Amino acid sequence: MSDKKVLAAPSILSADFGRLAEEVKSIEAAGADWVHVDVMDGHFAQNLSFGPKTVADIRPVTKLVLDCHLMVSNPLDYITSFAEAGADYFTFHVEAAVHSSRVIQQIRAAGMKPGVCIVPGTPVHTLDEIVSEVDLILMLLVNPGFGGQKMIPSCLEKLVKLASIREEKGYHYLLSVDGGITADNASLAVEKGADVIVAGSSFFTASDKAAIVRKLKGI
Ligand code: DX5
Ligand code: ZN
Repeated sequence: MSDKKVLAAPSILSADFGRLAEEVKSIEAAGADWVHVDVMDGHFAQNLSFGPKTVADIRPVTKLVLDCHLMVSNPLDYITSFAEAGADYFTFHVEAAVHSSRVIQQIRAAGMKPGVCIVPGTPVHTLDEIVSEVDLILMLLVNPGFGGQKMIPSCLEKLVKLASIREEKGYHYLLSVDGGITADNASLAVEKGADVIVAGSSFFTASDKAAIVRKLKGI
């Protein structure tokens, strides 16, 4: 077993929104490391979830890292409000930003850690010019919009390339995987280079949340 520290980041998209504070507390109680917040604008992703006020309202509820994944068409429009709400990571989609390097600069200037994400249909070389500037690369293993989908296994191969670029160039970004991750396939993602495991439905449907977190982390 590798001694690599793997971080677990349950996604609140699969939580009961009527009991969100409790659900966030259950993430912390289960021993997870981050709270993954899936923000969707109903345009980039054909679903609506939550916005900066939700982040502001859960901020005082947990000490965990708030890992915000913005599936939105205009990420620049949300940087200030998410920074003021207390987001730690602000991950945007490269498909939604012509000027991705400027978005990264503005995220960092606002005091958050910049992350970038690509959907299954986007080739990994799209990131070539910006991998040196980000703190996180989020690999979406499903088409954006909903929890509970099955992982598209070929997407994991993109991690291998990003892990070798990081090694070769000495970059510092974390690699995160998101979508269709379960206790059974998390280790495959870690083998391919994942440092952070996002899990929505497999966490919130688990009868023993602490056990699923240990499995996701490879403990
Ligand atoms: C999909 C979201 C994912 C999703 C993960 O658009 O970005 O984070 O909520 O949920 P599961 O783990 O259920 O696939
Ligand atoms: Zn996500």
